Amino acid sequence: MNETHFFNRRTKLLDLMEEGVAIVTAAIPALRSNDTEHPYRQNSDFYYLTGFDESNSLLVLIKTHNETKTILYVEANDEQYALWNGARHGIEKAKERFDVDDVRNIKDFPDQIKDLLREHVNLYIDLFDDSEALSEAKLAARLLRETRGVKRHIRSFRDITHLIRSMRLVKAPEEIETIRRAVALTADAHHIAMKRSRVGMKEYQLQAEMAYVFVNGGGHTEAYGTIVAGGNNANTLHYVDNRDELRDGELVLIDAACEVELYASDITRTFPINGRFSEAQREVYNAVLEVQLRVIEAIKPGVKRDWLQTYSEELLCDALINLGVLSGERDALMEAKEHKKYSPHGIGHWMGLDVHDPCPYVDEAGEALAFEAGMVMTIEPGLYFRVDDESVEEKYRGIGIRIEDDILVTDDGCENLSAMIAKSVEEIEEMCSR
Ligand code: GLY
Ligand code: MN
Ligand code: MN
Repeated sequence: MNETHFFNRRTKLLDLMEEGVAIVTAAIPALRSNDTEHPYRQNSDFYYLTGFDESNSLLVLIKTHNETKTILYVEANDEQYALWNGARHGIEKAKERFDVDDVRNIKDFPDQIKDLLREHVNLYIDLFDDSEALSEAKLAARLLRETRGVKRHIRSFRDITHLIRSMRLVKAPEEIETIRRAVALTADAHHIAMKRSRVGMKEYQLQAEMAYVFVNGGGHTEAYGTIVAGGNNANTLHYVDNRDELRDGELVLIDAACEVELYASDITRTFPINGRFSEAQREVYNAVLEVQLRVIEAIKPGVKRDWLQTYSEELLCDALINLGVLSGERDALMEAKEHKKYSPHGIGHWMGLDVHDPCPYVDEAGEALAFEAGMVMTIEPGLYFRVDDESVEEKYRGIGIRIEDDILVTDDGCENLSAMIAKSVEEIEEMCSR
């Protein structure tokens, strides 16, 4: 991705804004414990507009009836900071790199904010961002209101994230390309896990095999906490403990994926630890797989996301009836939400700079959005039968299966970006045998 991409996004955001001032801040470093921090992860909205990965910086966009202005506030380079942490861009290098109208020292922001807000009526901010810089801005807006002689003053705080996240919903070609790179590394990692899985290993050992692929391949980091869930652990949806043993005759559910240049992938595969599905495992696996394939087949521009959710639940309900887990009429079972006990989560979510991309799911009128080419979402049906659940046949107890792929909506349908990852029973058993 290059500066032209980021410049174009800032320009589009200014187009979407009414007159006013917008402030988008960098992420605040997160403390891990005492004086150690988590690895820094930039605020996705800020990154989307700048491609800038430094903390303590912010972007100001100004729009009046006849002009626009973009200002990037950054930290000046500092010798002591550079000694411990490496050099920052500093003001001069940032000026060279970014096609903004001005680059200024972040230290000057508190003094300059009042001038920046003078004469404007709208202040666009992330209403949930409690960074210091925004507190300054809100305070300045309040002070200006009380200042005599100012003809205009901030009258409304507006949510900037809604505009940015609406833009993030349809991915540009360079974003899709980056997601493809993340998916490619993730595909290698899932295949390694299938090849290396052995009875008696610990779940964290498969996690380590995958982490090696991510880091060795230049992946930034995991896109979310890796789930390696052997046997009944798969029925804990956000199982991240990964310290149990992998046992003979059980499945392992792996929901793991990497991030590349801050873009996520999000993939789940479930496979037999010893390399061969049992009859009962194969029945449940194929039931989930059929749902997943049929849902993916239904994705094309114009289809509404809420329809897809209902459709997927109908298919899961049918699967549960076919497996003999539920009995009765599908509509009545759906009405009573009986299927939710065995499949409690949604069919998928937007994916991009965040694994759960916080883009809108409904339009301005509150109606479910229809798919458009360039949207990326996961499709991840699952069936979960807890080991102590006596409402299901004994042979199914302890089986938890989810199959998750990353889907790009195209002009005439969709493309499964993770189609290269072994998924049918035959493909998985073949990969496990290598
Ligand atoms: N890995 C998180 C999710 O599937 O939504
Ligand atoms: Mn997901
Ligand atoms: Mn996932």
